[in-house]
Amino acid sequence: MKNLGSYRLNNHWVAILLLLGVSCKTERRSTPNFTNGIGLTIIDPHSYANFKEIQTKHLSLELDINFKNKTIYGVARHTVINRKARKAIFDIHGPLIRKVTTGPKNQEKEVDFIIGKMDKDSILGQPLIVSISPETKYINIYYQTTQQCAAIEWINTKSKENPWMYTQGQAILARSWIPIQDAPSNRFTYDATVKVQPGLLALMSASNPKTSNKSGKYYFKMDKPIPSYLIALTAGNIVYHPYSDQCGIYAHPEIIDKAKEEFSALPKMIASIEQIFGPYAWGNYDVLVQHPSFPFGGMENPKLTFVSPSIVAGDKSLVSVIAHELAHSWSGNLVTNETWNDFWLNEGFTVYLEHRIMEALYGKAQSLLLSEIEMSELVEEMKTIKSSKHPEDAALCLNLKNRNPDDGMTSIAYVKGAYFLKTLEHKVGQKKMDAFLKDYFKAFQYTSISTKNFVKYLNEKLLLPNYVDFNLNEWIYQYDLPSNCFTEPSSLLQQVNYLANATNRGIDVFAPKQKFKWVEKKKRRRIIRKKVWYTEQLNPKIYNTQQWIIYLRQLNPTLTKRALDRIERYNHFSEANSELQFEWFMLNLKCNNWSIAPKIEKFLSATGRRKFVEPLFTLVLRDSNRLGWAKRVFDATKNNYHSVTQQAIHALFQKYH
Ligand code: BES
Ligand code: ZN
Repeated sequence: MKNLGSYRLNNHWVAILLLLGVSCKTERRSTPNFTNGIGLTIIDPHSYANFKEIQTKHLSLELDINFKNKTIYGVARHTVINRKARKAIFDIHGPLIRKVTTGPKNQEKEVDFIIGKMDKDSILGQPLIVSISPETKYINIYYQTTQQCAAIEWINTKSKENPWMYTQGQAILARSWIPIQDAPSNRFTYDATVKVQPGLLALMSASNPKTSNKSGKYYFKMDKPIPSYLIALTAGNIVYHPYSDQCGIYAHPEIIDKAKEEFSALPKMIASIEQIFGPYAWGNYDVLVQHPSFPFGGMENPKLTFVSPSIVAGDKSLVSVIAHELAHSWSGNLVTNETWNDFWLNEGFTVYLEHRIMEALYGKAQSLLLSEIEMSELVEEMKTIKSSKHPEDAALCLNLKNRNPDDGMTSIAYVKGAYFLKTLEHKVGQKKMDAFLKDYFKAFQYTSISTKNFVKYLNEKLLLPNYVDFNLNEWIYQYDLPSNCFTEPSSLLQQVNYLANATNRGIDVFAPKQKFKWVEKKKRRRIIRKKVWYTEQLNPKIYNTQQWIIYLRQLNPTLTKRALDRIERYNHFSEANSELQFEWFMLNLKCNNWSIAPKIEKFLSATGRRKFVEPLFTLVLRDSNRLGWAKRVFDATKNNYHSVTQQAIHALFQKYH
């Protein structure tokens, strides 16, 4: 037997590979499109796994989190359904594989494995090919994570009280911390024993403890089958506040009081969505306020949504993110996109459901305001996509083969997808739409669905029985926004549109104005008219965050510094919530007001949300004079960014210089 470092293979195994015409040294072939780089049939364009032949049904994880070494030492025990396969292929991207065994725990036998070549752009990672027999039922992979494991973020690892770590699995990062068949159409249950330094709390997308314990040992169980990208782990100084037996909030002790006020609408949100789309399937629902470096607004890890602290605004103005992640418990987690090409089935549906929750809790005008904001993003992004090298990304159904599935995370999936459903609802009526969606979640629960199968189901269950003619193909496969796209203006728009227009025309809409009115007074039995002067000033508090976002987006990029200062004096946007700060900084950069730079720098060091960080760096880097500033700031902030955000900014530096 030869031992090639972590690559172990015997002659019998080499013979199998040669017979298959496989060499782990061959480059990834880009054609034909039904095999991957190692000559194996593609089931999912972003996975090497042969899960049609052999499939994980249950995963048992043993994880030892070591902050000192920034390493997780792990064993991934796969219980598989084996359809007579002689090899099992897993995805890996970063972990070091120490050994692989087959057989139940403690009756294990070491087996051979090889690790294939990394794909050209290091997107997919590598196939881990394990030699098994057609009878194999248990495959145990002993591994440890490395600095290359992009899912994991380590923070404050030297601190005793406040170290923190978390993982982000979507879209294809789960393979970077667990050797796994990492495709969204592959579902399994899991359990985990996790060891962490005593005093810290560990949490997963599973049944969770409420308090930390002295041993630092925790046990987790997810007894419903989920796709691999929804496995998540976090550990830190975290405390819990319950809203009810069913739901509550986890956060760092410093922010828990603020957070528990902020998200107090959670029980109502759950009740409102259950009423329309059927019961919540996962038992408990908790929200964890993640570390500020968290790269997304929210991530729908089942039973335990992760959210960015940037949505803790102080006035509940950004809670739609919670509505969104909660909605994923139906669209995405219960019914999952079959491949990342069908991502709109996750996100478009979720935005639609999010708006239904927001409407139920805060009224139609407010939910329409959210749609309006998203529509303005869609219009902008459509223009960019259609003039890019991938105009086909403007279709709902994508083709992301040989590309990073993250490229599909655009407003097309989210907003065009949601408007598709809104338009459909308008056409068939809300009652029928709700019944259809409720049945859809039931019919496909705990499975995944492709765009093609969704279209089939939609035709069969909604369109044909109701004689509805709908331009499905145009919506799903063509690039433009169809002309029947149904939009409704929000009644909350008018005043801010007026304000924005006036500001653009140079009027200081916020300044106090001297006004007079005529007052009639009785004097010696005669009535006298008198002019009374008074000051009128707009109270910025009468408008909400979403109205201000729309206001700011409508301002011309030609406003002078003086005009900007005037707006800031009354509204203090640079100290407002994260969304408003972001809009304000973007506007200032567009208007070339570089005196704002120190405030932007502070903002960039306080949040790692890619949605904020990437566009700000983009605008800065468009001006080549700012390269030095950008480099210095990125150097100072990058350790506070998760790899998802770090990589996005690295790519910008490459693009612009
Ligand atoms: N599931 C997504 C986040 C995601 C998508 C992570 C693709 C990795 C790959 C999550 O539900 C989401 O959409 N988050 C949004 C917030 C939402 C309110 C639109 C975000 O983070 O911006
Ligand atoms: Zn989402």
